[in-house]
Amino acid sequence: SAERTLVLIKPDGVRRRLVSEILGRFERKGLGIDALALRRIDDRFADQHYADHLAAPFYPGLRAFMTSGPLVALVLSGDDVVRMVRGMVGATDGRRAVPGTIRGDFATSGRENLVHAADSADGARREIALWFPDLD
Ligand code: CMP
Repeated sequence: SAERTLVLIKPDGVRRRLVSEILGRFERKGLGIDALALRRIDDRFADQHYADHLAAPFYPGLRAFMTSGPLVALVLSGDDVVRMVRGMVGATDGRRAVPGTIRGDFATSGRENLVHAADSADGARREIALWFPDLD
């Protein structure tokens, strides 16, 4: 069914000049772009985005990374787009992600893994409301 998902090209993606490579994959796949913005986030915003991970041992490092520079936030739309985009992004750890996926092709880290993509339709709705509160 038609749905939306929230994607972040993380600060490592911007630093490594991989924005057009990553955006291009979603465009060539045929997904719609409903929102797109270059943003910097602070600790408070990172805590809201990653509310489920606040207690994780890796969270302090993750927060420092996510606030370390500009990132690109976008909303993609299409049929079954949450699952489709998770597939295109690949496994969390770049060392385990399958070649052909974004992380499998460009990432070698568990933390600096280039992309975030919402993991469920409910998660996507929550994250879209946080990042793009004015989007219809
Ligand atoms: P993301 O899909 O944004 O969701 C949570 C993020 O935490 C994940 O991508 C990684 O950037 C990071 N992460 C998850 N597991 C680990 C880990 N074991 N060590 C470091 N960072 C992690």
